[in-house]
Amino acid sequence: MKKILSILLAMSMLLGLAACGDTGVEEPIDYKAVLTDPNLTYSSEELESMAGDRTLLVSDYGVPALYKYFEGIVKLGVAFTSNQVESVGTDVDLTAETDDINLNVTKGILKHYNMYVLGNELKSDHCNPAPDTYNFEDGDKFVEVGKAAGAELRGHTIVWHTQVPQWWFKADPDDQSSLDQCRTNGTLATREQLTERLTTYINALMEHFKDDIKIWDVCNEVLNGSGIRGIEDDNSYWAEIIGDVDGNGFADDYVEIAFNAARAAGGDDMVLMINDFNLEWQDTKVKAMYDMVERMMRKGVRIDGVGFQSHISLDCNVEKYRSCIEKIASLSEVYDECFPEYKGNFRVEITELDMNMFIGANADGTYYTWSEEEFQRQADKYYELMDMFLDFADEGVIDAILFWGTDDENSWLNTTPKLRRNAALLVDRDLTIKPAFWAVARAALNHKK
Ligand code: GLA
Repeated sequence: MKKILSILLAMSMLLGLAACGDTGVEEPIDYKAVLTDPNLTYSSEELESMAGDRTLLVSDYGVPALYKYFEGIVKLGVAFTSNQVESVGTDVDLTAETDDINLNVTKGILKHYNMYVLGNELKSDHCNPAPDTYNFEDGDKFVEVGKAAGAELRGHTIVWHTQVPQWWFKADPDDQSSLDQCRTNGTLATREQLTERLTTYINALMEHFKDDIKIWDVCNEVLNGSGIRGIEDDNSYWAEIIGDVDGNGFADDYVEIAFNAARAAGGDDMVLMINDFNLEWQDTKVKAMYDMVERMMRKGVRIDGVGFQSHISLDCNVEKYRSCIEKIASLSEVYDECFPEYKGNFRVEITELDMNMFIGANADGTYYTWSEEEFQRQADKYYELMDMFLDFADEGVIDAILFWGTDDENSWLNTTPKLRRNAALLVDRDLTIKPAFWAVARAALNHKK
């Protein structure tokens, strides 16, 4: 018996060593190290030797990792959904060459970026679908993937007017009526109810993720073109229900409540941001953002930065965009004055970058395909844009640039505002690398010179 036991023990130790290395603890795979050829030089010569090759795949071992060109200057990030990374942490060998397009998408995510954001699964409707019900599993997977790839994580997003639980806004969470009907019937939630639900959720979210996700878009798209969103034009119930609590004439107090709750639960080292679209050109919105953030900071609400979503198109005016970033970046003076112990901590992030290329459908109903010249024009615009962002990165204003999607097939612009085919990103729908990928890398290399 003793002998059998000792044989069993020896066998289990052997198996343990094989799986765990000699520390006895399972070593996580360092994906950044294993998915890219360590002999690459990241030189201009190397880049130009590959840039014309339209057969290279985003997952190829011999392709340089895009984030590497930006290392030490700015984080380079990507948005994805949980199903795009489901093989991470399983038996699937992601280091092996494969024709499986989904696995190659996963490899591209692990290989090229050092900041991640989940496209949908950390939104409040997903995470808090009913009272006392928290669905953090996708978020946990996201954390696991971030660790496996040594990537920093952005949490997106807590307060929004869409993808937010509808029950938050109803007096009775089980009420099946639409919010519009509740409004007519006088059965919307009270200010106290909505505030309590929001705060309870934020506490649970921060409690769960605070050690792993250190940057949050606390609020998303709270502004319209000139001020806080309302119901009539913007279908947002926040301002109507919570309203002007402090009587200062602005019904944006829910923004303060969210930031204060996130700070209290998340701690002083949490980076809490506000995120919005059209900030790259719409002066009235830039002003509304500046004024609101300044006013809140002067009340003691620490807002650590503004996210420029940056859903742009080929005709984006880069100089106009630069002046909008300058205006928002000047909030850092107010920040430093209001929160001297955190001086220098205010930042701008480019949070959802993509470039709409939709120019119409083919007359016969088939999908439009872009010519290489059109892709080159897109690359030129990406270059111009990245070059401008890098000026701000040098000044410590921009610390992260994230693309909203992994490749042209996996982009919301194929379905919004209607079903259509688009080509907004750096990687083609067959996962070959587009000229825009190399243009982005080239911008970083030239910037270093
Ligand atoms: C907005 C949101 C994102 C995402 C995109 C569309 O920009 O901030 O979370 O929903 O729209 O994919």
